[in-house]
Amino acid sequence: MIGPSDERMETMRTQLSFAPLAEIETELLAVTAADTQSSKEADAKPMPYVLTADPAVKAAAAAVLASGEFKAGANETVLLHAPAGLKAKRLLIVGLGKLAKATVNDVRRASGTAVRFAKPRAIRELAFALPNYTFDLPRFDPLPMGLDIRAAVEGALVGDFDPDTYRSDRKDQSVQSFTLAISTNLEKAPLEAAFAEGIIVGESQNFTRSLVNEPGNKLTPTILGQRAAAMAAEVGLGWEVHSTEKLHELKMGAFWSVSQGSAEPPALIVLRYEPEGVKDGPVLGLVGKGITFDTGGISIKPSDNMEKMKYDMAGGAAMLGAMRAIALLKPKVRVIGIVCAAENMPDGKAYKPGDVVTAMPISADKPGKTIDIINTDAEGRLVLADGLTYAKSLGATHLIDAATLTGACVVALGYANSGAFSNHDETFAKFDAALKTSGEKFWRLPLDEEYAEQIKSDIGDIKNTGGRWGGASTAAEFLHVFAEDTPWIHLDIAGMAWVEDSKPYIAKGPSGVAVRSILEWVRSYQLSATR
Ligand code: BES
Ligand code: MN
Ligand code: ZN
Repeated sequence: MIGPSDERMETMRTQLSFAPLAEIETELLAVTAADTQSSKEADAKPMPYVLTADPAVKAAAAAVLASGEFKAGANETVLLHAPAGLKAKRLLIVGLGKLAKATVNDVRRASGTAVRFAKPRAIRELAFALPNYTFDLPRFDPLPMGLDIRAAVEGALVGDFDPDTYRSDRKDQSVQSFTLAISTNLEKAPLEAAFAEGIIVGESQNFTRSLVNEPGNKLTPTILGQRAAAMAAEVGLGWEVHSTEKLHELKMGAFWSVSQGSAEPPALIVLRYEPEGVKDGPVLGLVGKGITFDTGGISIKPSDNMEKMKYDMAGGAAMLGAMRAIALLKPKVRVIGIVCAAENMPDGKAYKPGDVVTAMPISADKPGKTIDIINTDAEGRLVLADGLTYAKSLGATHLIDAATLTGACVVALGYANSGAFSNHDETFAKFDAALKTSGEKFWRLPLDEEYAEQIKSDIGDIKNTGGRWGGASTAAEFLHVFAEDTPWIHLDIAGMAWVEDSKPYIAKGPSGVAVRSILEWVRSYQLSATR
């Protein structure tokens, strides 16, 4: 597996089975159940129903379903030992919630819940039965079976990840073997292809998470560059990792200003995906914020929770995970990935409030914008400004950036949604459509002339902060100055990049958010290109 520096980290083995559920010999067979109660009356009793046509499983589950003890709520579980009529040693029933509202994302979460149920109980091998919807009751999003398969594998891999790499008492509780059991008469090849896709996507998301989890001392900009290069070489991406000299050569004054207070040199990571035979059409530019630690610089942050700022490279890591998946899934569209990595530190050489820095020139005859530094803690937008300009100079026709950019975005949306911004409705619509497959939640927030006004400067072209109010939008307007009219999406993942409280299907820690959505957005360009 690509990624984890820790050799103890093992990959879960995954396989497909088309055998009847009752015949599967396993430590644990997980099946899903949904609440089929359609009445909206407050006192309407839940009607849990196992989503399988297998008579042995139905019989084994009958008593607990009738008991009223298990309501098939989302990620609710009930375990039965030695289920009669099954070769499995244990039967785990995982709830999907209301059947009428069940989505592909609920399937993703249910398989993650099954894996995370097994892990602490030292159950190292399990089978998960894909929900079978051959019932009369309709599902909310009757998506093709392939998407359910993909989601189930992704959910299992994501569920298997724990961020305890550096614990010496870490017991290796990884699930070693995961079987996805499918009962169907459909042709197998497309189902196997969906399964293979799910492995690539789940492992790429975990690759991102393992990077985000690394502490600042173990993951400097230089090391992030090395990890990106190793991944690129392994999956066959073109790559370059530059540092100080190149930043000066490109006149990336904004990016450089952030890095200049650190003893660690910056890294400008460039990955190229150039599929054979694709000579025209769009070039997608993926730009990520890679601040390996954000102290705030001279405008230093309070000590409380500052340790969390090791995850300030989550946007960059998401781009690396997406590029990995792109290289392996091979969509027919060109993609450039750029990560601007630096450490934001206070120092005798650090940039200061009141400094004026000049961003990368947009072209030979268009000088770079001058930026009036108000707060050195608003560093993410500075590195991204030059990253966006650089992506355009390399030929990007469409841009997407991801960044843990503002606390204001967390204030607005909490830990339920990431923020999204765009200067181009059509481009955003493609991203919005991708969310249905990725299962991630992004909420579009406004760009507006009023926010742009807030960052006008008397001293230079723009200020790097726009005051207290509307902080997520003023930060986005800052980036807009550099994206200009190129169709562009900005993702603010400040809140969602770190799971604050563990969930039944995902550990507390790095989430790997945005990897799946960016990947699906990229893939949507190859579809329209072939149509
Ligand atoms: N990396 C932070 C934003 C952040 C906050 C990420 C909370 C994750 C969780 C960013 O560099 C920052 O410090 N932003 C400032 C901007 C302000 C100075 C205009 C903020 O949000 O307070
Ligand atoms: Mn900051
Ligand atoms: Zn930051």
